Amino acid sequence: MNRHFKALHERDIASVVHPQTNLQKHLTVGPSIITHGEGIYVYDEKGKRFLDSGAALWCAALGFKNERVAKVAYDAMHQLPYFQIFRGYSHGPAIELSEKLLKIAPVPMSKVLLQCSGSEANDTAVKMAWYYWHGVGKPDKRKIITRMGSYHGSTCVAISMTGNTSYHRSFGLPFDGFIHVDGLNFYRTGEPGETEEAFSQRLADSLEATILREGPDTIAAFFADPVQGNAGALPPPKGYFEKVQALLRKYDILFVADEVICGFGRTGNMWGSQTCGLKPDMITCAKGLSAAMLPISALLINQRVFDVMVGESARIGAFIHGFTYAGHPVASAVALEVLKIYDEIDIVSRVKSLEAPFLAMLKSLSDHPLVGEGSGVGLLGGIEIVESKETRKSFPPQARINEIIDRHAEASGIILRTTPANRIAFSPPLIISEDEIAEMQRLTMKALNGALADIRSARS
Ligand SMILES: Cc1ncc(COP(=O)(O)O)c(C=O)c1O
Repeated sequence: MNRHFKALHERDIASVVHPQTNLQKHLTVGPSIITHGEGIYVYDEKGKRFLDSGAALWCAALGFKNERVAKVAYDAMHQLPYFQIFRGYSHGPAIELSEKLLKIAPVPMSKVLLQCSGSEANDTAVKMAWYYWHGVGKPDKRKIITRMGSYHGSTCVAISMTGNTSYHRSFGLPFDGFIHVDGLNFYRTGEPGETEEAFSQRLADSLEATILREGPDTIAAFFADPVQGNAGALPPPKGYFEKVQALLRKYDILFVADEVICGFGRTGNMWGSQTCGLKPDMITCAKGLSAAMLPISALLINQRVFDVMVGESARIGAFIHGFTYAGHPVASAVALEVLKIYDEIDIVSRVKSLEAPFLAMLKSLSDHPLVGEGSGVGLLGGIEIVESKETRKSFPPQARINEIIDRHAEASGIILRTTPANRIAFSPPLIISEDEIAEMQRLTMKALNGALADIRSARS
């Protein structure tokens, strides 16, 4: 490592706290410094190239270099580097972006609240659900239901919604009133002989039992990501959302679709809601909205919710909620340009045409001794890592299987997203080509072979 990067490593260790990183280990191991990117590849400080199978955090949809968007950001910053949208102020980029989102929404939506991150959008959606039920005179409807395996963000409320206890440990979370129902992994939790439809019915019955136990009059909203990202890019089992939505209608519970990963072509439609047949009252989105080139997110709300919000303004005054950087003009201009590029390259058709080779890749990986099965939709999917294909058993935590796979992935020149759910998730940049999908398959296979060799030699 040259002197410049050696010094950067030391400065990183001395100054930066890294999310989702073992801080004790980081003090000795230090960072992996990424210097630049091109297409679906990024380069580290040694000049080594990595195929990023996860588009960073499911988000770099247009890859890691885009001169056209850079120019738009530069021009927008020249025009108006910042102004607020509080107190009725506005500007062109926020207006145009909101109009565009309403135009492409998967179900009729009425208005857009612009934010900066997926967590903020979800947090705001919870507040809007509470505001709505206050406005209609049912303030006791406050509980929020989500599913195990779903990640909804890191703010106190978004992490309370997140269905993974390891995210709550030592923080004294989740907050009361955040209820987690069963996860959706048919491969792991389907019963012997059970069909996928019957599994979905079992999940729906369990959800209904939860609603009745908690009391429908105490439940504000149900949140779901169409394909569960954090569970390892797991598509819903057949019939699941149909049954769930019937219950939400029956018990008058608002439905929020978390499209933070699934939005903007990722699943082979513009929205995961279209792929999975969702009819939400509110939609949160981020990541692909700007292809992650600047931080921005949005919450779309339907007329039912907006009418009540207007009623609250008439009753109690101004709508008191917002973030300084909401609708930031530069981020909004970047998002608009990204959406224009998606239209120009027909991102939805592109992803649809790549779905077959992508699913074939997952299928071929599932022949590997460490892989139970693979499933996905569009360019979003995952493979189940198993100790035994026969029993479908996971490796015990002390086997540190993810660390072993990560190490071999790095040596093989690929970034793999190993997840706590024993699934490797794939969500490559949407600009990936068919040849690059083949390369992703080859590099993943190499990493898995390396991991298997390590495991076998440790056993012998
Ligand atoms: C489904 C989903 N919702 C919300 C979030 C939180 O988004 P952010 O990290 O932008 O706050 C994420 C982040 O990965 C996500 O995957």
